[in-house]
Amino acid sequence: MTQIIDGKAISAQIKEELKEKVAGWKEQGVEITLAVIQVGEDPASSVYVRNKKNACAYIGIRSLAYELPEATTEEELISLIGELNGREDVNGILVQLPLPEHIGEEKVLNAIAPEKDVDGFHPQNVGALCIGKPGFVSCTPAGIIQLLKRSGIEIAGKECVVVGRSNIVGKPMALLLLRENGTVTVAHSKTADLKAVTGRADILIVAVGKPRMITAEYVKEGAVVIDVGIHRNEQNKLCGDVDYESVAEKCSAITPVPGGVGPMTIAMLMNNCVESAAMRQM
Ligand code: GUN
Repeated sequence: MTQIIDGKAISAQIKEELKEKVAGWKEQGVEITLAVIQVGEDPASSVYVRNKKNACAYIGIRSLAYELPEATTEEELISLIGELNGREDVNGILVQLPLPEHIGEEKVLNAIAPEKDVDGFHPQNVGALCIGKPGFVSCTPAGIIQLLKRSGIEIAGKECVVVGRSNIVGKPMALLLLRENGTVTVAHSKTADLKAVTGRADILIVAVGKPRMITAEYVKEGAVVIDVGIHRNEQNKLCGDVDYESVAEKCSAITPVPGGVGPMTIAMLMNNCVESAAMRQM
């Protein structure tokens, strides 16, 4: 029987644990605050931002919402970040991506104080992950590690293949699997024989951004398959980067879309907010 990895249930479990922790902090007079900044009105971003605010409310984290107009300048945004960096009562700062074209993403992300960078995008946090030092880790790959661990899937010694090399998912994913003692390969759009590479994987993480690209032919019998993609198919139904029906028959465990990786990202963001407050107390 193929194990269906239930991201909704695991994320709910993590959120319950965090809720208890936050209540404990509150009893000691510590309040956790996340500042969420959105520039413009990209509809998908608005949904993500709303979900983040709702998760904060559920767990007991105060959220400060900054909904800035599309015409906001880079200087204005960086000045707001500077102000939030200096505020004692703000633990975490999140700038929702994508930003409008006239604003330099790298410059903005670099302006966030690393100790408040709950997205884990600042070069200092990325570097810390690379050399195995403490720091914030990008939420989606951190969530995938939790999915694997909480589903009883061993990483150490396994052949792990990550398809996709983005800064937000693929690269930090590879580093995290390495930290867990996996043997890691990163494949991408220029990989010569992708099927041969993915076919070696005991644990296959797919973040290619192409609907149902990974069919059963790409997957070894008994592999664990994690699908990071989310798309709408011809019938307007959600689907992932993995062709779920054919792959589920061949693998030993798989994440569905929706209800797999998706719910974990916010749970790990909440975890990073709680950690940012814990670090402050140390
Ligand atoms: N846009 C899409 N995913 C993310 C994310 O994880 N963090 C931020 N800040 N923006 C995003």
